[in-house]
Amino acid sequence: MSHRKSQQKRMRVKIISMGNAEVGKSCIIKRYCERRFVSKYLPTIGIDYGVTKVSVKDKEVKVNIFDMAGHPYFYEVRNEFYRDAQAALLVFDVCDRNSYETLESWLLEMKQEMGRNNKMDNIVFFVCANKIDKGKRMVETLEAQLWAEEKGFKYFETSAATGDGITELFQALFSTLVEVSENGGRPIKVNTNLGFTKEQADAILRIKSGRDNYEKLGLHHSATRDDINKAYRKLAVILHPDKNVAPGSEDAFKTLVNARTALLRNK
Ligand code: GTP
Ligand code: MG
Repeated sequence: MSHRKSQQKRMRVKIISMGNAEVGKSCIIKRYCERRFVSKYLPTIGIDYGVTKVSVKDKEVKVNIFDMAGHPYFYEVRNEFYRDAQAALLVFDVCDRNSYETLESWLLEMKQEMGRNNKMDNIVFFVCANKIDKGKRMVETLEAQLWAEEKGFKYFETSAATGDGITELFQALFSTLVEVSENGGRPIKVNTNLGFTKEQADAILRIKSGRDNYEKLGLHHSATRDDINKAYRKLAVILHPDKNVAPGSEDAFKTLVNARTALLRNK
């Protein structure tokens, strides 16, 4: 093989991890690179660096991973590592709502540090909903999936503890990076194509989170039989499982039917 050809078959990428302290960034990377999990929390001090090699299609990819500390205390140490990253893992803990809500501020921090010439648009973002093995979820799949979709980011659910989703996450990430490189470094529009609309997802989320049947149907407590039936018909069209492929649509539809029955009984 000529030198030039062998060069074309090799590439280097820089990946960074971002997200609040303790969401599991280091554990996700460790699970992938070393196939193991440590349950004791060992905070990353500033930054950890690791390198691994993978083969994607016929390419040999040298992956440089910069694992950032999530604690605000380390801002000064990590801020210089944003530059030149081709990909970022945006990690949150599904049992810690704040870690999900803070993702926006991680993007902001990155934007500030990238400087004027470095375009955020050229970076491949993967959102990683971690700790799905743990107890009570505070962030629904649907909600986080939609957030990622709106930003054009890919979305994965993982558990560093059990290993669920980890290989899929990294394989998809590396494939995307190779595609981007073959596209001359220009980002490829991520086609997340969820197959459902925001209106459909919002309806499911409201039905799930509504504190009582009125709230689930988006009604005031003074609603009449007519209001209830109207709201029901509107939601039934949005939620019907034949039309709505979003996760949770079947349960939401059943809840909707029960909520309407219960409300009409009291009128
Ligand atoms: P910083 O380095 O401080 O930013 O934290 P980090 O995001 O790197 O978190 P780390 O990977 O150190 O994990 C934090 C804690 O969560 C540790 O006690 C891990 O054992 C635990 N943990 C990480 N991933 C998972 C997971 O998928 N499931 C469960 N149950 N625990 C996890
Ligand atoms: Mg860490």
